Amino acid sequence: AAAEKGGYDHFMLKEIFEQAKVVKDTLMPRLPENQNRVVLDEIKLSKDELDNINKIYIVACGTAYYAGLVGKYLIERITRVPVVAEVASEFRYRDPVIDENTLMIVISQSGETADTLAALRLAKQRGARVLGVVNVVGSSIAREADDILYTWAGPEIAVASTKAYSAQLAAMYLLTCHIALELGKMTEDEFVSLRDELYQLPRKVNRVLSKAEKIKRLADKYVHSKNVFYVGRGLDYMVSMEGSLKLKEIAYVHSEPYAAGELKHGPIALIEDATLVIGIVTQEDLYEKTVSNLKEIKARDGKVLAIAVKGNTEIEKVVDDVIYIPQTHWMFTSLLANIPQQLFAYYVSTALGHDVDKPRNLAKSVTVE
Ligand code: G6P
Repeated sequence: AAAEKGGYDHFMLKEIFEQAKVVKDTLMPRLPENQNRVVLDEIKLSKDELDNINKIYIVACGTAYYAGLVGKYLIERITRVPVVAEVASEFRYRDPVIDENTLMIVISQSGETADTLAALRLAKQRGARVLGVVNVVGSSIAREADDILYTWAGPEIAVASTKAYSAQLAAMYLLTCHIALELGKMTEDEFVSLRDELYQLPRKVNRVLSKAEKIKRLADKYVHSKNVFYVGRGLDYMVSMEGSLKLKEIAYVHSEPYAAGELKHGPIALIEDATLVIGIVTQEDLYEKTVSNLKEIKARDGKVLAIAVKGNTEIEKVVDDVIYIPQTHWMFTSLLANIPQQLFAYYVSTALGHDVDKPRNLAKSVTVE
């Protein structure tokens, strides 16, 4: 078993450290330098069919759903097609508005999650086109979707999803560029410069991973926090949801993700000196707003650990601790900003002596509704 973990203490840590490769494997085959388009020949959806799509649903569960929220934000903002993201267990029961002009994107690591599969079947029945973003080749969702975009994360053993999420985000970046190019919402020049950023992501993932020791020290420092909030705005808010889930899943520490601007409408009442707030501040246009929310927390004696973009040193005056991620295009910060959250949850869990790879009450794949 030790050999299977490749020298790491747990599968989860091994999988966290595989992320540069996973991102590379998912992106590179679709981004050849000699073609100024996203090569998704696996997807049969034509330009004409895309032109007729007037609404997109993104449906998934758990971590895959959080990747879907990032996808929703990017696809809608860049392509201007309205996108609704929803958890599969809710989507099915509310008689959603679906027709032949609907594109449904389902995201699933295992390709076997019962609620997601049932949502896919409902959408197909009602005439929607279904595109699956799936990790396990030949799984039920992969077989039943009309089109399939595989995430090349390889087998994920740890129950808590890490590398599969990064691969799903990479897939969302690809889809955003693909749909935008097809619909004429992105020029070739814009695409080429975004692609240059994507080429650099694997190397930047490794730069974040090299901070593991520092993140372990921060986990030890904050391990006994009473309440934990993960906050951000825009894409940072989407990322905060995944961070909070990881901490709950493997460390059994209760935490809540919150839209930073919404804190003052309730949760700020819980801020005291034993409260930890993890503030994600990677979005330039929302930076000042989130920082002012972080100041409100400091003014109430809360502890703030920020995840910010390198070069942005003035945040150090506001918060207790900062983890920096390398600079990248605003569309792609989610992948880098999430990695410190994974490592933080991992080290809090091990500091508390929990079984990281097999957290209590959780299953890798949930095949019951
Ligand atoms: C379970 C797993 C999660 C996963 C979710 C969705 O709850 O513990 O890690 O995100 O199912 O799984 P899927 O295979 O559909 O991505």
